[in-house]
Amino acid sequence: MLSWDEFDKEDAAEPAKGANAGHASEAAMDKLDSAGGAAALEARAVTSSDSAAIIRAKAALDKLDVAEGLAELEGSAARVAVDEKRMINCRADLNQLVPFKYDWAWQKYLDGCANHWMPQEVNMNADIALWKNPEGLTDDERRIVMRNLGFFSTADSLVANNLALAVYRLITNPECRQYILRQAFEEAIHTHAYQYCIESLGMDEGEIFNMYHEIPSVAKKAAWGLKYTRAISDPKFETGTDETDKELLRNLIGYYCVLEGIFFYCGFTQILSMGRRNKMTGVAEQFQYILRDESMHLNFGIDVINQIKIENPHLWDAELKEEASQMILQGTQLEIEYARDTMPRGVLGMNAAMMEDYLKFIANRRLSQIGLKEEYPGTTNPFPWMSEIMDLKKEKNFFETRVIEYQTGGALSWD
Ligand SMILES: [Fe+2]
Ligand SMILES: [Fe+2]
Repeated sequence: MLSWDEFDKEDAAEPAKGANAGHASEAAMDKLDSAGGAAALEARAVTSSDSAAIIRAKAALDKLDVAEGLAELEGSAARVAVDEKRMINCRADLNQLVPFKYDWAWQKYLDGCANHWMPQEVNMNADIALWKNPEGLTDDERRIVMRNLGFFSTADSLVANNLALAVYRLITNPECRQYILRQAFEEAIHTHAYQYCIESLGMDEGEIFNMYHEIPSVAKKAAWGLKYTRAISDPKFETGTDETDKELLRNLIGYYCVLEGIFFYCGFTQILSMGRRNKMTGVAEQFQYILRDESMHLNFGIDVINQIKIENPHLWDAELKEEASQMILQGTQLEIEYARDTMPRGVLGMNAAMMEDYLKFIANRRLSQIGLKEEYPGTTNPFPWMSEIMDLKKEKNFFETRVIEYQTGGALSWD
């Protein structure tokens, strides 16, 4: 590790501000600027050693209109003041990350980076042995593993596509966009993790990846999500009117509060319950890291939704509140149906009725997190251990089971 202490000492003697702090005077910098400009121009001059191709490249650059190129940038060209920053419909330059307005978004970006993990780090040997042993798991347990890999293997792609093809463009704040980029990569890691489980266990990939077409309880959840991305993923869609701003809010509620905030919870609970009983521990460990990422995605989404409401209170009218509440109730209902389908009988110390209570408890949380009335009074959490898992710190047990440093690259073979 490099130490910068000595350089710090030198600067501490003469505190100075600005990009050029602690170095040459303004006059000396101006002189360097003009010398630099002249040297750059000279480099463009055609020399006797230039080939015809290089001469053509230089000539093309002579015709480049820099002003026209910069005009393409989003937002105004001036230096950004914090007060100009807004979640949506912002007119300030979106390529200037600082000054930060939403410190929470930057902090979540840093936290996400600190939690980085890769699927190949998790040892799958015990899972492979258990899965291949005809006596290893009951039919009910196998159904749970298959259904959840089926749902999640495509659900995370839906989330990633919604982020990259729709939401990113419409959230006009660079620190939030920085987090969205991090989240999009995490969604890619999650899809990778499911693919890694499916491949390790030797499952029929076509069957698993097609469940969102073929299995009704999976298909309904995917179709519900897709409905909310249709309008805003149209490249011509723009926010800026009440109706289009509300459409974006509906999408954020649909994806962050329902897809990532409700649709993932039955599956997470089932697989993690399996891991707690020492079954499919590799798959469960993958899901544990995914759940930790997802709880951060959810919290980021809630903050974004609430910030948009603060900055645009007129959007959050009685009609949209009613709609948002309905969306969360519909999502809860679909997840209850998914719980029944994946768990027709009691399994792993849980049953569909307990899951229903848990989902209602989660739904109450989602409603209150965006300022809506709870719709399932008196529900309690039958699975308090889920909250502990969500707070899992990487250092707690990550390195005990870690089998590879991802920096070394390459996938392990589990022969
Ligand atoms: Fe994900
Ligand atoms: Fe996510």
